[in-house]
Amino acid sequence: MRVLLAGGAGYIGSHTAVSLIEAGHEVVIVDNYDNSCPEAIARVEALTNIQIPHYEVDVKDKAALDAVFKKEPVDCVIHFAGLKAVGESVEKPVAYYRNNIDTTLTLLEVMKENHVNQIVFSSSATVYGAENASPLYETMKKGTCTNPYGWTKWMMEQILSDAAYADKDLSVILLRYFNPIGAHPSGTIGEDPQGIPNNLMPYVSQTAIGKRECLTVFGGDYDTPDGTCLRDYIHVCDLAEGHVKAVEYAQTRKGVDIINLGTGTPYSVLDIVHAFEKANNLKLNYKIGPRREGDLAVCFSNADKAKEVLGWQAKRNLEDMCRDSWNWQKQNPNGYKK
Ligand code: NAD
Ligand code: WQD
Repeated sequence: MRVLLAGGAGYIGSHTAVSLIEAGHEVVIVDNYDNSCPEAIARVEALTNIQIPHYEVDVKDKAALDAVFKKEPVDCVIHFAGLKAVGESVEKPVAYYRNNIDTTLTLLEVMKENHVNQIVFSSSATVYGAENASPLYETMKKGTCTNPYGWTKWMMEQILSDAAYADKDLSVILLRYFNPIGAHPSGTIGEDPQGIPNNLMPYVSQTAIGKRECLTVFGGDYDTPDGTCLRDYIHVCDLAEGHVKAVEYAQTRKGVDIINLGTGTPYSVLDIVHAFEKANNLKLNYKIGPRREGDLAVCFSNADKAKEVLGWQAKRNLEDMCRDSWNWQKQNPNGYKK
């Protein structure tokens, strides 16, 4: 298949590009590099030994996107393009709604006009909200989000579902990711957050390399075995392979399907700290601090549906995730910047 990756230069998109190419598919990337850079694509090309057609295009720009669709006919789209920082979304809700909703609407319009009927969407466990108890099943009613970022995912799921209801040719797969971490084992592509990281693993690796003084564990008094929050961390290469299965599955059916991509196994923040220390034979400077507003104590998937429907399950363990995150950080202390 030929797959267009909207936002394909980003963390998950770049890893998915590698997996798709390894599985024998072709990829085309569009990205405005709002949170990424062309160097990520160059590294994917070096890893796969394949030249990837790529375009600096804002997915909200309908004419520019249409020109790419005309020039590069594709069978399927994976929609990664979006702003994703939870805290920033509280500060700049309009920018988040504008970018995330508009990219989705524009993609749907341009797909329809170019007779592309398959879309795989990067959704998030955040749409389950606080009402649902883990393990989280796809059959659960969506919950109340705690921030504009989460609401954009919630709304985009609704928009894509309504579009599929109206257009019986459309095949929509809503992938709900849990907590992607890790990097390609080569250490040449990985997560490259701008400024101070919001997410746990980049903060851990930047602390280990000395860019941050100390990791603050947000809350040690949760009702969990060690008092710190539980999450479903998944290796980004497993996640990428899940996308390969999803685009192949999208070809075989119509309508909407929701699929969790997680491991189904929760780990605490302290589990991550200790696993990172052990896998990489180092000591992390950390302290227990106050809770972070909006954090849930526990969030993990039931991962059965992905296994049944896609024939996919995560293969890599926590040690792999910690080793590969550190390998990327060590080789690229400043991310993609030289
Ligand atoms: P990322 O920021 O690394 O990748 C997103 C990419 O989209 C970036 O390359 C960015 O430049 C691009 N982009 C943003 N707006 C665009 C626009 N208008 N036009 C063209 N390109 C645009 O993020 P990621 O971690 O790779 O996440 C990919 C998707 O998965 C996002 O939609 C994110 O919300 C979702 N998601 C991520 C996580 C996570 O923890 N990383 C979890 C759940 C869902
Ligand atoms: C993980 C755990 C923190 C940083 C977010 C989004 C979610 C999804 C994935 C996109 C939590 C703790 C963190 C730190 C810490 N993104 N932590 N110290 O919050 O589970 O999910 O990213 O869809 O929507 O909300 O991920 O990596 O920020 O936090 O103790 O410096 O690590 O409290 O328990 P989260 P995270």
